[in-house]
Amino acid sequence: MTLSGITQRLSHQRTRPPYPNCFTSGVTDSLADALIGIVGSAHVLTGPDMCAPYETDWTRRFSGRSRLVVRPGDAGQVAAIIVACADAGARVVPQGGNTGLVGGGVPRDGEVLVSLRRLEDVADADPVAARLVAGAGATLASVQHTARAAGLAVGVDLASRDSATIGGMIATNAGGIHVIRYGPMRAQVLGVEAVLADGSTLSLLDGPLHSSAGYDLTGLLAGSEGTLAIITRAALRLVPEPTDRAVALIGASDTADAMALAAAARALPSLDAIELFHDSGLALVRSYSGLAAPLERDWPAYLLVECAGSGGTFDELSAFLTGTGADRDIAVAVDPQERRRLWAYREQHTEAIAAAGIAHKFDVSLPLSRLAGFVAAADARVAAHSPQASTITFGHAGVGNVHINVLGLAPDDAHIDDVVFRVVAEYGGSISAEHGVGTAKRDWLHLTHSAVEIAAMRAVKQAFDPKGMLNPGVLLPAQA
Ligand code: FAD
Ligand code: MLT
Ligand code: ZN
Repeated sequence: MTLSGITQRLSHQRTRPPYPNCFTSGVTDSLADALIGIVGSAHVLTGPDMCAPYETDWTRRFSGRSRLVVRPGDAGQVAAIIVACADAGARVVPQGGNTGLVGGGVPRDGEVLVSLRRLEDVADADPVAARLVAGAGATLASVQHTARAAGLAVGVDLASRDSATIGGMIATNAGGIHVIRYGPMRAQVLGVEAVLADGSTLSLLDGPLHSSAGYDLTGLLAGSEGTLAIITRAALRLVPEPTDRAVALIGASDTADAMALAAAARALPSLDAIELFHDSGLALVRSYSGLAAPLERDWPAYLLVECAGSGGTFDELSAFLTGTGADRDIAVAVDPQERRRLWAYREQHTEAIAAAGIAHKFDVSLPLSRLAGFVAAADARVAAHSPQASTITFGHAGVGNVHINVLGLAPDDAHIDDVVFRVVAEYGGSISAEHGVGTAKRDWLHLTHSAVEIAAMRAVKQAFDPKGMLNPGVLLPAQA
């Protein structure tokens, strides 16, 4: 399925007017009755067919049954839903665009699934403060569109932009292609409005830009994966929209060569992205998309470097490329269509991999100096463990974030997860750079986080959600 196919599926769910009355099961459920009283019968879904699209995640590796799906239209309804669920002893899984890749936004064991997609309002950007307030269900693309109208941009960008929501991106502390310049989602969030597990609303949207008064609750909710609160709105910092861009795709002899180029590229003043992929991923993308070979000859590794600013980016990038050596095989693009073509080789990896099978996806980060060694070791360890598997590696090389994708194994084969996460720990990395922990990685959190860290996280969870109502089974390992 293509990303645009997925986007269509998701936007179909989001906008199909009028919302059908899906409460067709005939089940007598007093919680469902209470929720219908809050959001109306059109927004409480109970039949298996109606709930199914919310019950399996994008990877198709994680799915479970929900008790029902409820679709609030504003923060007040979210708060009332939480109170009703608490009264009924029901647990809750928040969901945005359902593009998450770690099984954190789908039900596991009969939870109530709260879809935030109807909270999709985006206010006009404030050009003086360079900020914008958006509902948690607004897609990144819609926020980008509104920001662009004011000559501004969001500092985070992802290939899932047409479906991923602002709430989901904050909850996962999403990264993407511009982390090297602007940091992850946490760095773009000036404040949030969020409903807590007791139904009260935390409103942090309007504070001053700079404040050191106490704990950073907004920062804490970024990356909390729906386990501490349900985010309903956010104030986002905006950055100037670049008017001038240049992209280069450079062939590299191996990962270490690509990382050496990346190290040099980090000094570029208008650097906007440094991305890595390999011959195996390129071959898959080309057979999936029909794209021609990007360079004169084939290379084991490829580095994509983008500069963006208000002028002179081509000259800046050209000077850098000249310094990389005379015999480099390079394609450079300035024209928007040509730039999109070069980016397609990188951005289509996720779709091409998903089209080839259900992958074990590992989003990990490594110290930059150890990344090339890690990639080789992970490849070798996977091959030794599962000779029938194929490994495709790509990612955000500038910040040491690589995505290891293993195809050819049963989705529930957890041995391979153990193999790869142990290599990550050996190389001093993190088991999640940008996708979160979800249910996919929680059993390995202890490999890279100390018992003291995990105990502190548990204490935070206990303080926010003493009854364990919000997204149970996500992020924190089960207690012995
Ligand atoms: P969902 O999948 O719906 O949920 C994700 C998590 O957030 C779940 O734990 C859920 O419970 C929680 N959650 C959702 N909404 C809320 C809310 N309002 N309040 C509290 N908790 C909430 N990710 C990256 O970081 N970088 C990338 O470059 C990137 N590229 C991608 C490319 C493709 C093609 C795809 C399919 C995915 C990609 N992703 C990437 C992963 C995904 O898009 C991000 O994790 C995104 O942030 C998820 O947003 P969502 O709205 O789909 O969240
Ligand atoms: C990406 O960088 O394209 C994503 O994080 C998605 C993925 O890991 O497949
Ligand atoms: Zn990524």
